[in-house]
Amino acid sequence: MPELYDTPASPATFRRRILSWYRRSGRDLPWRRTRDPYRVLVSEVMLQQTQVSRVLPAYRRFLRRFPTLRALSRAPLGEVLREWSGLGYNRRARDLHRIARANAFLPRTVAGLDALPGVGAYTASAVACFAFDEPTSFADTNIRRVLGRAILGRTATDREAVELDARLGSKRETARWHHALMDIGATICHAKRPRCEVCPIRAFCDYDGVEAQSQRKRAPFGASDRRVRGAIVRHLAMSTRGVKVSVLRRGINDPRVPRLVLVLAREGLVEVSSGSVRLPAR
Ligand code: ADE
Repeated sequence: MPELYDTPASPATFRRRILSWYRRSGRDLPWRRTRDPYRVLVSEVMLQQTQVSRVLPAYRRFLRRFPTLRALSRAPLGEVLREWSGLGYNRRARDLHRIARANAFLPRTVAGLDALPGVGAYTASAVACFAFDEPTSFADTNIRRVLGRAILGRTATDREAVELDARLGSKRETARWHHALMDIGATICHAKRPRCEVCPIRAFCDYDGVEAQSQRKRAPFGASDRRVRGAIVRHLAMSTRGVKVSVLRRGINDPRVPRLVLVLAREGLVEVSSGSVRLPAR
């Protein structure tokens, strides 16, 4: 990494504070009670774009319906999308389904996991860590904020955070280390108004309470295309038959419906035949 920065004078104490805070105050979440790589993968894919509070009921329901990779592989994609449609970002469900259809077992290595559809470097490392105890380095937004603020005085970029994680993280307790950072980020080191007075690494932290303005803003059109895509899949989830594009367009009341139906069809999320759209039956 080009920047120079100090790591804490005592990385071992830094680590110990974080791990012992987690023992006392970490969150008890269902995907932390399993080592089943399939369950861990489902949780990580759900958590990519969805908050823990919304993932909790969806995770339980999804796994009741598809308890194993094999069960998922046997279900038609349409059913998987029906289970998923409340969560949005439906490509995630399609990718999980593709993974299940193409693999009897999930790979155990980061490289093997990384090669799966829809699984990027973060998810591959997180699954290897949480399911197989691989001492991997990775960072989600919470980890970027906690390690970045502590060491750099601001939220770290992904590269910086992964580097910091590699230098400072516990290799022996890799799963607990990462869960602890996620929980400090979610419950103490909030993006706005962090609760520094209760933070276990306050004494090590360089953050002065002021983040530089975020430069990146989500493109407004990207966001609303996503909403319309979600509405299309939700509409189709309510019907087992095909729905005419014109009916869908009127129901959703958005001129982008016909175009986005074609995009969804190209991605394999819907099927179109003679002007009717439906969720995939196979
Ligand atoms: N976000 C991503 N992975 C998570 C996990 N394992 N626990 C809580 N939040 C998460």
